[in-house]
Amino acid sequence: MFKKNLILFFSYTGTCSRVAFLLGRECGADVVGVKSRGFGFFKPLVHKWLFKRGKPIVLLPSGLDLGKYDNVFIGGPVWDGLPAPALLDLVSQLDLKAKKVLLFLVSSGDFGISVFKLKDLVKERGAKILGLMSFFSSDTNFMVLEKARNHLFVLE
Ligand SMILES: Cc1cc2nc3c(=O)[nH]c(=O)nc-3n(C[C@H](O)[C@H](O)[C@H](O)COP(=O)(O)O)c2cc1C
Repeated sequence: MFKKNLILFFSYTGTCSRVAFLLGRECGADVVGVKSRGFGFFKPLVHKWLFKRGKPIVLLPSGLDLGKYDNVFIGGPVWDGLPAPALLDLVSQLDLKAKKVLLFLVSSGDFGISVFKLKDLVKERGAKILGLMSFFSSDTNFMVLEKARNHLFVLE
């Protein structure tokens, strides 16, 4: 039997990874982090440079088949008031036509216009958005799950 839910995320310093695995445990999902170009301290600079030039930033896992899943979660951090370039690049590489998608963003306090940007891009890709969860990097696991439960009930 296959799982119905997939969680795809990008994380630089680990918070989105923590959130993704908590959500995955809560709703029984496959959890997949995407690899990205650049390394260490230079990653944000490399990502911004690539994004400006329209070059790929993230590497989709080989054999990724969204068709196997009913619901796809996509998440990542806020950078400079926007979804991190790697998150935007991830979305732009996915075929989300008619897919049911739950989004999540993590920031240290200022979401800027990231929520609207991410929502618009995911809609452009043809997805049906089930919801968008926003977390602070300071949220404890308990707080993450409390916030998430207000959204996870929409899953069939
Ligand atoms: C380059 C960069 C830019 C950031 N810009 C913002 C921002 O505009 N607003 C904010 O609240 N947090 C900002 N942050 C903080 C991250 O959104 C926050 O630490 C998030 O939890 C990181 O997720 P991660 O640990 O999965 O990478 C920024 C972090 C980085 C590295």
